[in-house]
Amino acid sequence: MPTKFSAINPRFPHFLHGGDYNPDQWTPEIWREDMRLMKLANCNAMSTGIFAWTKLEPEEGKFDFSWLDQVMDLLAENEGSAVLATPSGARPAWLSARYPEVLRVTADRRRILHGQRHNHCMTSPVYREKVQEINRRLAERYQDHPALLVWHISNEYGGECHCDLCQAAFRSWLRKKYDNDLDRLNHAWWSAFWSHTFTDWEQIESPSPIGEIYLHGLTLDWKRYTTDQTIDFYNCEIAPLRELTPEIPITTNFMGLYTGLNYPRFAVAVDVVSWDSYPMWHASGSDWELAVQIAFIHDQNRAMKSGKPFMLMESVPSATNWMPVPKLKRPGMHRLSSLQAVAHGSDTVQYFQWRKSRGSAEKFHGAVVDHVGHEYTRVFRDVAELGADLKKLDTVVGASVQPDVAIIYDWENRWAIDDMQALGRERRKYAETCIAHYQPFWERGIPVDVIAESADFSAYKLLVAPMLYMLQPGVAERIRAFVAGGGTLVTTYWTGLVDENDLCFLGGWPGDGLREVLGVWDEETDTLAPQERNHVVMADGNPLGLAGSYEARDYFALIHAEGAQVLATYASEFYAGRPALTVNKWGKGQAYYMASRNDTRFLDDFYAHLADRLNLLRALPVDLPRGVTAQLRTDGKNKFIFVMNFSPAPVSVALGAGKFEGLLSGAAISGRLDLPEFGVEVLKQ
Ligand code: GAL
Repeated sequence: MPTKFSAINPRFPHFLHGGDYNPDQWTPEIWREDMRLMKLANCNAMSTGIFAWTKLEPEEGKFDFSWLDQVMDLLAENEGSAVLATPSGARPAWLSARYPEVLRVTADRRRILHGQRHNHCMTSPVYREKVQEINRRLAERYQDHPALLVWHISNEYGGECHCDLCQAAFRSWLRKKYDNDLDRLNHAWWSAFWSHTFTDWEQIESPSPIGEIYLHGLTLDWKRYTTDQTIDFYNCEIAPLRELTPEIPITTNFMGLYTGLNYPRFAVAVDVVSWDSYPMWHASGSDWELAVQIAFIHDQNRAMKSGKPFMLMESVPSATNWMPVPKLKRPGMHRLSSLQAVAHGSDTVQYFQWRKSRGSAEKFHGAVVDHVGHEYTRVFRDVAELGADLKKLDTVVGASVQPDVAIIYDWENRWAIDDMQALGRERRKYAETCIAHYQPFWERGIPVDVIAESADFSAYKLLVAPMLYMLQPGVAERIRAFVAGGGTLVTTYWTGLVDENDLCFLGGWPGDGLREVLGVWDEETDTLAPQERNHVVMADGNPLGLAGSYEARDYFALIHAEGAQVLATYASEFYAGRPALTVNKWGKGQAYYMASRNDTRFLDDFYAHLADRLNLLRALPVDLPRGVTAQLRTDGKNKFIFVMNFSPAPVSVALGAGKFEGLLSGAAISGRLDLPEFGVEVLKQ
């Protein structure tokens, strides 16, 4: 796996810095002022025309590109580039009025009215045709324009449509999947339950609160179909762009852990992954714990294309108006949160939005240029300074990392966990659980890939798979091969219960052959009340070197060691003394089973042991102060170590041996690095 990639568009081997740019809301005079400010802000890339369809096609078939011609020319003249958008995210009113089929139908079978955005039918042939037409015209017009750098397809695809066209498309997707065999579908969905067996394809409808929601096979297939149909729509959007501008990279902006689309599947279809990040800094507990969550998502975005740098397509330079607590970013946080994305593999820092809109929903959303209209604002200065920092990091562009650790966070697994009726709905917390297992690595500056079940495990030393409830075909087999070949597997309670259709494995859990790998049989799971606690007591002389007991909550699998070594047992309840943590030697590797949801102190001690024993790659060979992380990018020759202080107090970080160049400060650094609150430095080694 390479650690050095080419720049997003090799024509421009620098960080992209800029934001969502809506010249369609403003006048030529303001555009010229925007260019002046863009240079002052050290910005170089504008995501242009995302919601500009009506301005581009004010009447059906009547196009007006004259204004965009001027904007593109201005960008090129001012050393700026366009991350040029296709406008399908919001459509002109004439289109909805003339072709009502483009309006979505909700799950309760009501057709929406025209308004808002991101709400078109993905199946509608008319919409597809209209979108392709405007996209073709954009590509024809700007294919050779020097400002065109990246294509930004639509905006934040999401949601579902339940219209008749989509029902028909869903049925044909199902026919294809089940080889036209209704019996196979009925078996996969276990539809004999409650007499829901289908006797005709036409009886099948998408899930609905006024219809079916309990056939888990159906709800899973609907989500899979929705992903596939959205990708199909995207492919339809990009067809003319690929044809006319094969050299221009294409992306569409993802939304972190948004559950509506299987992003790792979607990622295959884009040239570069991009995502929109809106953490609620300073208002949701400690910033460093929030930073852990965001780091997890950055790593997930980087890992989707095997380490290829991604784009931070949207972030806010100050306050996010729609949040429950739209707090201003405290001094230092803009720089820190932006460079955090870079530390984890982003080759861009882009914002929503460049200039504050004058009216409507986002007039109070943070922006580079405020309503006051000039550059003498705190936020503008923050942005300009960050732009200057990014220029110092040119050598980092394309550098990446090949971690020793992967954590599985899988969309389909999440869908299945969210749908099931077990474990108490509120506390399943699949994502939070994966992030809890990620945190000890973040605190040690150990790089991690966050991957799907379908990813290749073979390059890792350690595979962490919390709550891997659903085993898709071949996954157990690949896990077996991974452990047999010398890998270390860590998994938890609620692993290996169902297959890809959410049908329970028969013959004992963890199913599909994982029982042998783990050397345990998981007989049943106890769910405690939220306030209840139990403890796991470490066995004397256990090879982890852990002693005493740790608190555990929520879930307790009652397991039998079938060859595995028992490392800890439960302290109380009727299952006191039974195994709570085991390890099994399998082939050349080892497989751990963590039968209960243990506290962070346990996870920290446990992974500290594995990090040492497996000698996991880390950014710096030192203990980091609380709230501080170090993240690594390398081009194969140089190491770029991002040391970031997410705590609200100054810290002094011992660096161990070695001499470094501080790329931001320009200083030669060795021994210790002092960072102010929310401080960051990039060490080159
Ligand atoms: C994003 C969206 C942007 C803007 C932003 C505001 O989800 O893509 O267009 O609305 O939120 O935070």
